[in-house]
Amino acid sequence: MQIYIEENYEKMSQKAAEIIAEKIKSNPALILGLATGSTPIRTYEILAEKYKKGELDFSRIKTFNLDDYLGLDFNDPQSYHQFMRKNFFSKINIDLKNAFFPNDFGSDYEKYENKIKESGGIDLQVVGIGRNGHIGFNEPGSAFDFYTREVELDETTIKDNSRFFDDISQVPKRAATMGIATIMNAKQILLLANGENKKEIIYQALKGPITEKVPASILQKHQNVIVVLDNEAGEKIKT
Ligand code: PGA
Repeated sequence: MQIYIEENYEKMSQKAAEIIAEKIKSNPALILGLATGSTPIRTYEILAEKYKKGELDFSRIKTFNLDDYLGLDFNDPQSYHQFMRKNFFSKINIDLKNAFFPNDFGSDYEKYENKIKESGGIDLQVVGIGRNGHIGFNEPGSAFDFYTREVELDETTIKDNSRFFDDISQVPKRAATMGIATIMNAKQILLLANGENKKEIIYQALKGPITEKVPASILQKHQNVIVVLDNEAGEKIKT
């Protein structure tokens, strides 16, 4: 596991964008796993800036997102389909037919898994981490051998994500998510985290025991993980 602790959110985002950009340059048909949430927003912006400067071409890139809420229309501004369009896809030359989400095939989640397999598998999977240690929407207690499926969101997740909604009652309670096994099948994983409120869970995930109580702790077992943190999120693992 390679761990980078950068000075601040901007530097963390630059480092993450550089890692992704290099992968795309060496393989223009890269299969990218993507995450939503506030953490990767600036990374996506920097990648879009690189595209505008002519440094990157996304025309042959395929993407698979980690998760999306259930019960929201794909056109709902809160859906992760729209999050990705607004924050990334509308700013680059990706063919939207090459951008997939776990709920694109109704509840046929095996079809999503098959799409990933047919594409040759995910080369680089970007993940954030929840304060409760979730990756994707694999909440504490999720079995490590689960694949893409429907899940119920944890109270912590509903509370944390309510900041994006007018009212907590509007936060969907169910989601579709890649499983831990899906994520672990990626050839390389890029974990990003920033902010003081992530320092404890980053410590538990990277230095604590590997347990289903902290889903991200399984990453310790992956052969090719890069972690990019800002100073605040990295504070406890440094000591
Ligand atoms: P955040 O979410 O990037 O908004 O902190 C991360 C996550 O819940 O996986």
